[in-house]
Amino acid sequence: MPPLKVAIAGLGTIGALLVERLTRQAEFIAHAAARQVELVAVSARKPRDYGSAVINNPLDLAQRQNVGVVIELMGGADGIAHDLVKAALAHGKHVITANKSLLAEHGMELAQLAEQQGLCLNYEAAIASGIPIVKSLRESLIGIEINQIHTILNGTSNYILCQMADEKISFQEALATAQQQGYAEADPHLDISGEDAAHKLKLLMSLAFGCRLSDIPTQGIQDIHSLDIGLAHQMGYAIKLIAHAQKNGEYISGAVRPMLVPLESRLAQSRGTHNVIALYSHHNHLCLEGEGAGAYPASNGVLADIVDIARGMRLPVFGVPVQQLAPRLVKEQAQPSAFYLRVLVMDRAGSMAGIAQLMAACDISLASVSQPPLDKKEQSAPIAMMTHPVLEDKIEQALAKLAASQVVIAPPLAIKIADG
Ligand code: HSE
Repeated sequence: MPPLKVAIAGLGTIGALLVERLTRQAEFIAHAAARQVELVAVSARKPRDYGSAVINNPLDLAQRQNVGVVIELMGGADGIAHDLVKAALAHGKHVITANKSLLAEHGMELAQLAEQQGLCLNYEAAIASGIPIVKSLRESLIGIEINQIHTILNGTSNYILCQMADEKISFQEALATAQQQGYAEADPHLDISGEDAAHKLKLLMSLAFGCRLSDIPTQGIQDIHSLDIGLAHQMGYAIKLIAHAQKNGEYISGAVRPMLVPLESRLAQSRGTHNVIALYSHHNHLCLEGEGAGAYPASNGVLADIVDIARGMRLPVFGVPVQQLAPRLVKEQAQPSAFYLRVLVMDRAGSMAGIAQLMAACDISLASVSQPPLDKKEQSAPIAMMTHPVLEDKIEQALAKLAASQVVIAPPLAIKIADG
C-alpha cells in the first residue's frame, strides 16, 4: 500500500503532540495501519521546522494534490475550521477533527457531504478525548438499543468541582488552577457554562439514539459555591456537571445541568479531568471512564482515526446514513424529583420561618433543613433544604419568590438530586 499522506491544521497542544508522535511512533503506527503514515504539510500560526511543508493559509491544505487526509485541530464552530472541513471534503480528502463545537453546529451538513463524497469524517477525540466512545457506539454497540445515557463530559468543570471539594477553595480559584494546568478551553466559558458538555452530548445522542443533532437545555456550574459542595457532602452527595439523555419510544430528551449524585455512585467518584459515560439498554449497562481533557488522550483518538482511514474503514458519520437519522421528537414528561435548595438570608429572627412559610405556600414539602454554623464576619446566614419529590415548575416558582423576598440577600440556587 502507498503511504497515507496527512496534513494538520492547527498546532496547539494536541496538534504539536500529534506531529511529535507521528514522527516518534512512525514504525508503531505503520505496523498498526499496515502502511506508512506520512505527515506532508502543516498549517501553524508560528512557523518552525516541522519536517514537512508549512502552509500559511490552512484552506490551501484542502487543495494540495498530495494530501489524502486533512486533520482539523484549530477549533471553533464557524469561520476557518468550518471552511476548511467543507473544502477538504469537497476536494476529496478524508477529514479528522477533534472539534466538538463545529460538529455540534454543522455536523449534519458535514456528514451529508462526507457521505456524498464517500469519505470519512472521523472525530474520536471530539467527545470524551481518551474514551473510545465513537468507536464503541458506531461499531461495538451498533446492535444495541440504548435508552439512557448518564455522563460527565467536561473534564475542566469536573476538575473545578473536585478542587472546590478537596481544597475548600472558591470557584474562581479552582478555575484559575484549571487554566494553569492547561485543561480549560481557550474560552473557559464553554467549559463552565455547560456548553462544551452540551456539544458533546448532542453528538452522543445522535450516535446512541440515531437522531439528528438538535439543541438541549444547558446549565453550568458558575453559581455553585464551595458552601454548596460542603453541604451536599454532609447530606451524602457530590455535585457534578451531568449530561444525560433518554429515549422513550420515539421521544428523546437530554440536558446538561449540575446535579447532586450519591457519593457512592460511579459519577460521584470520578476525579479530576476524568470523563464517565454510562450507557443503559433494557438488558445491558456499560460504563466507560477515562481521561477527558489534555493533549495525550486527544492525540490517541486522532491516531486511531488515522489508522482506521489507513486500513480502509468507512463508516457513516453518525453510525447510520444521515437520511436514516430520525428527527428528534421532544415531549418532556415532567417527573417529580427531589431538589437541593440553598438561600442566603439576613441573620435575624424570623428569617428561617419566613423561608419555611414561602416553601409551604409553593406547595413544596421539605425533607430536611439545615443551617451551617455562621461565620461571625458574615451578615448573612445560609439555609440548605432538601425537598421531597416535586415538579420542577414548583421549584422555579419558589426560586422567583425567594429571589424577591426581603430576607433573602443573594440569588437562591436549586440543584436537582439524581435518583440513587
Ligand atoms: N475543555 C475540554 C474539557 C477538553 O474540559 O473536557 C476536552 O474536550
